[in-house]
Parts: sequence; structure tokens; C-alpha cells
Amino acid sequence: MSTHLLNRTHFGDPKNAGNLMTLEEAHALLNEWVPNEKLRLHMKQVAANMKAWAIEKEGADETTALKWELAGLLHDADWEKYPNDHCRIIIEELERRNIDPDIIRCIASHGPKVFGVEPVSNMDKMIFAIDELSGFTHAAALIRPTLYEGLEVKSVLKRLKTPSFAAQVSREDIADAVARIDATVEELIAFIIEHQREVK
Ligand SMILES: [Fe+2]
Repeated sequence: MSTHLLNRTHFGDPKNAGNLMTLEEAHALLNEWVPNEKLRLHMKQVAANMKAWAIEKEGADETTALKWELAGLLHDADWEKYPNDHCRIIIEELERRNIDPDIIRCIASHGPKVFGVEPVSNMDKMIFAIDELSGFTHAAALIRPTLYEGLEVKSVLKRLKTPSFAAQVSREDIADAVARIDATVEELIAFIIEHQREVK
């Protein structure tokens, strides 16, 4: 896996705390920056999982849940157009727009080994874990004729133990990400199946 070390420890400006963008603005950015529909779907799935986790597991209020959702929605926004500068470009764009630093830091920490930024908050830790497992779970659904219909946790787990399946997904990163959160891999896969199955 190539690295894109950010070589930074601070993201955004604390005085911008509470500055969010609307979901419409975030989707407009995605539509402009990410022509690839599959990649946009991935970000929408991560966003749905992040929002649901914030509300159901963290008791987040509406504003906090929107922060989690926005981080999920934008975390790979620069991947398609700027693969060599992923995620520096989206981070700098959000800093230019004076967006809440929690969102920017969360995006910067979605791949600790790739970007060199350790997840600190629960939002940071969850984007790392959800990003890894959301894409993997979706791959496990796509090979089934009925997609998510009848998809069980144990079948995703079996794929996880099959190194040749979605071989580009690092099992080591998944184990690392899940070890940092307050849920087992089984629980997180079940949560992800439930919350991303209807995302279009
Ligand atoms: Fe991602």
C-alpha cells in the first residue's frame, strides 16, 4: 500500500468549531469531484454507517450526527482526481472552507498507516473501522445474486478469512481498526449490513 503521509498533527482551526456544511453542499462537492458512481456509493455507505453509529451508539445530537455523516461522505472525495495527493487535497479544501476541525481531523485519520495520523476521538476511530469493513462487506454482498438479501455476518467473516477474496483489503488494518473500538468485528459487520444495505 502506498503511503501519503500528511506530516501534520493539527487540522483545521479551532475557531471554526461548529462550522458545518449542509448535506446538499457535501453532495454537490462529491458530484463535482467524484465522477465514479461506485466510489460515491462507498462514501454514502460510510456516511450512513457513521451517522447511525453516532446516533445509536454515541447518543449524538443532530449536529454531532451531521459531523460524523459529513466526515464519512467526504473522506475519499479527492481519491479519484488526485490519487497521489489523497487525502491532502480534501483536507485543504475543507480548511479553506473553514469547516469544523473535528471533521477534518477525522478524515485525516481514516488510514493511520497511509496518512500517518493516529485516530484520537471515537469519530476518528470509527471512520477507520467502518471504512475498512464497509467496503469489504459491500464486496461480499456484490458477489451474491440476492446482494444484501439474506447476507449473514458469518458469510462476511468467512470471506475475511479467505485471503484471495478482496485481496487488496488489508486484514491487518481491519484487525488494527477493530482493536481500537468498543465493538467486535462480528458486531460491526452486523451493524454495517443493517445500515448500508439500502444506501443508493
Ligand atoms: Fe473509504
